[in-house]
Amino acid sequence: MTSRQRLNAALGCRNEGRPPVWIMRQAGRYLPEYRALKQRHGFLEMVKTPELAVEVSLQPLKRFELDAAIVFSDILVIPEAMGQPYHFRDKGGIQMEYALESEACLDKLDSGCAADRLSYVGDALKLLRSELGDSRGLLGFCGSPWTLACYMIDGGSAPGFPKTRSLASGNPVLFAKLMEKLTRELADYVRMQAASGIDALQVFDSWHGLCPPDKVRDWSLRWIDEVIEAVSGEVPVILYAKTPKDRVNLLAGCKAQGISLDHECDLREARETFPQPFALQGNLDPALMETSPTQVEETARNLLLSMNGDPGHVLNLGHGIRPQGKIECVQALVETARSFRSEDS
Ligand code: CP3
Repeated sequence: MTSRQRLNAALGCRNEGRPPVWIMRQAGRYLPEYRALKQRHGFLEMVKTPELAVEVSLQPLKRFELDAAIVFSDILVIPEAMGQPYHFRDKGGIQMEYALESEACLDKLDSGCAADRLSYVGDALKLLRSELGDSRGLLGFCGSPWTLACYMIDGGSAPGFPKTRSLASGNPVLFAKLMEKLTRELADYVRMQAASGIDALQVFDSWHGLCPPDKVRDWSLRWIDEVIEAVSGEVPVILYAKTPKDRVNLLAGCKAQGISLDHECDLREARETFPQPFALQGNLDPALMETSPTQVEETARNLLLSMNGDPGHVLNLGHGIRPQGKIECVQALVETARSFRSEDS
């Protein structure tokens, strides 16, 4: 079976032997070849130049035997395309050029043009598809409406995103107006990605856990479902929702074909909420990549054993690799997954 077939099989749950492996935020500062390119080009310049985006997307695959490439981009290209640019703060985190503070701000956001303005992502995907051929999977992605709204309303990274939560609870009409506008742009954007050759789409709801339990559907899931609907029948969707362990059940009923969870959650417990053929992705602690190859091998093997050959398991980290992640640890993770056979258990 090729890597691409293995990934597709996991998402349709007809996988055999070993789980596919790909790693969230595969590219980045832990790789010297990424840092070298970053010396010459800005982050957004790399994202917006298809040849450079392809080069960065393929860097991890040149080093490691991963089953899929994820296009090098960012979730915040959507607000940027709608007229709300951003940059990285010197000390880490996101700074939007302004915060959405009023209805007038919201009305000024452009609509109906995100897919056009983001054609560079489509171009990178088409180039990647032809580079990868049929042997390895290709993943596209976007941010969830809720998680994008967090950055847009608070004006950048902010602990707990208080302005966003207070707008969502204090002015639900205005909040819904923003969510509708964002969801429409995202729907066009993911349709464009589907037409550009992806095998699966991942939706990142990184700030899902900030929604109060009784608001999870209104603030986040109903809008995600609309984005998923836009590509329904074309590509499977994996929802990454960072949420407290005891709230995984609140994700039940979402329209995704797979769910990706961080290391705080228990994948076997999640199986009870999400029976086959739902795919389960995760969920090693990214800090593991800062330990030693022996520790990586032991921890990854234990996770694989505990999943007991589950054909819908996609082995992954629960979050992105940090700059201090060690290459030999990533290598050990990939080797452990590739040599694992379910009968080992
Ligand atoms: O896995 C991959 O290689 C795909 C690329 C990818 C990036 N961002 C590239 C990136 C993906 C899937 C993302 C998603 C993303 N971006 C999310 C959702 C996942 C998550 O992390 O919860 C979010 C919230 C963002 C927004 C964003 N972009 C943040 C918060 C940061 C870190 C800023 C900081 O504090 O330094 C980024 C930067 C970013 N996106 C990097 C990469 C490789 C690091 C860029 C660099 O420093 O060179």
